[in-house]
Amino acid sequence: MSEKQFPPGFIWGTATAAYQIEGAGSADGRTPCIWDEFAAIPGKVYEAHNGDVACDHYYRYKEDIKLIAELGFKAYRFSIAWPRIFPEKGKLNPKGIEFYSNLIKELKKYNIVPSVTIYHWDLPLWVHEEGGWTNRQTVEYFKQFAAVLFEHFGEEIPMWITHNEPWCASFLSYGLGVHAPGHTDWQEATAAAHHILLSHGEAVRMYREKGYKHQIGITLNLTYQDPATDSEDDRMAAWRSDGFTNRWFMDPVFKGRYPEDTMEMFKKHNVSFEFIHEGDLELISIPCDFLGINYYTRNIVRNNPEDLFLGGASVRGPGSHTDMDWEVYPEGLYDLLTRLKDEYTDLPIYITENGAAYADQVVNGVVNDEERIEYFRLHLNAVGKFIEEGGKAAGYFCWSFMDNYEWAFGYSKRFGITYVDYETQERIPKQSAYWLRYVMTKNAIS
Ligand code: FCB
Repeated sequence: MSEKQFPPGFIWGTATAAYQIEGAGSADGRTPCIWDEFAAIPGKVYEAHNGDVACDHYYRYKEDIKLIAELGFKAYRFSIAWPRIFPEKGKLNPKGIEFYSNLIKELKKYNIVPSVTIYHWDLPLWVHEEGGWTNRQTVEYFKQFAAVLFEHFGEEIPMWITHNEPWCASFLSYGLGVHAPGHTDWQEATAAAHHILLSHGEAVRMYREKGYKHQIGITLNLTYQDPATDSEDDRMAAWRSDGFTNRWFMDPVFKGRYPEDTMEMFKKHNVSFEFIHEGDLELISIPCDFLGINYYTRNIVRNNPEDLFLGGASVRGPGSHTDMDWEVYPEGLYDLLTRLKDEYTDLPIYITENGAAYADQVVNGVVNDEERIEYFRLHLNAVGKFIEEGGKAAGYFCWSFMDNYEWAFGYSKRFGITYVDYETQERIPKQSAYWLRYVMTKNAIS
């Protein structure tokens, strides 16, 4: 592999999300979110782990930001906990605003660019009790939340991400039941997806109307869908899976329509699309300033008529696998970026998450995570290749700054470039963190 130089101004960042790191579950007026409730249901989350303490970042944000700076990151992507800002319906909590305002101040002290995700899955329980994302009214609640954030931080945040991974927040949460609130109903799941996308459109419109001049966009999780063989049947199965995973979100955002084949598939499962109102898709496809994508792995699909939903089954890939059992497949990132450029958008693309979990060990105070370094090296090469060919990749945020609460896997999976000892809350940068620092200094990878 040849050396790949990244363009000047390429944004190097690292990412986290509120529920995964903050802890302080009931501090300063915060009320529960759907994950607090979900984690308490036996069998839903590994060993019923929850975010009560997590990485204790709420109390340690200063030392964490100092470390982010020492590791050489120019940008930090974090999310804002909705139940800290609106712990109850219509009740704004000044303590919540204060926490994020201090956090942003601290980032500025080190010249780190803050990138804010408005919604990274911690839906307040009070919103959920009114139906959560299945209820169109939640779009209004989200607007109120976003309006408050813009009012307080609109001028200070150069990069706003309305939503993180709508696929997970809707299909995985209301359809497959794997994430909070753990429902298994495709009518709910498709309505949730629609309302999430609609709330994205509303937030972008509001941001524009209020005249803010920075950037706003959305982050989609895209998974490359690869047919198991070249047969027509397998290719069709991969295409169906692509509709369900990728096109269901890319098409409305960029083309103002849902993919027809996937709509038909949902209709066969008795989904009715009455929740789509006139004008919704125009709003959902309102132009953004960038697209964020989170990329981890590919899905190899073979045709399987016994599967009554997508008519497909996943096949384990031949490559090496991470601790999540996800195949390392950097070509998929390159292919997705190229497809986005060719078929969807000219907008700058940020890789807002990319990374790998491994069963890291501290040996004599050192975490030698060679496999993670290799993972980053391969994926950064894929990004570099895309840029070399004229693609507009504007930045890369590794997931994650530190080990944290990996949703249904609790604390059992370590994605960090910083090791967290959950007993003592000690942070130990892994070798991958130092490797990334070197890459960032050179702004190149060899
Ligand atoms: C993504 C999530 C992020 C983290 C990584 C591993 O789906 O956005 O919070 O859990 O996966």
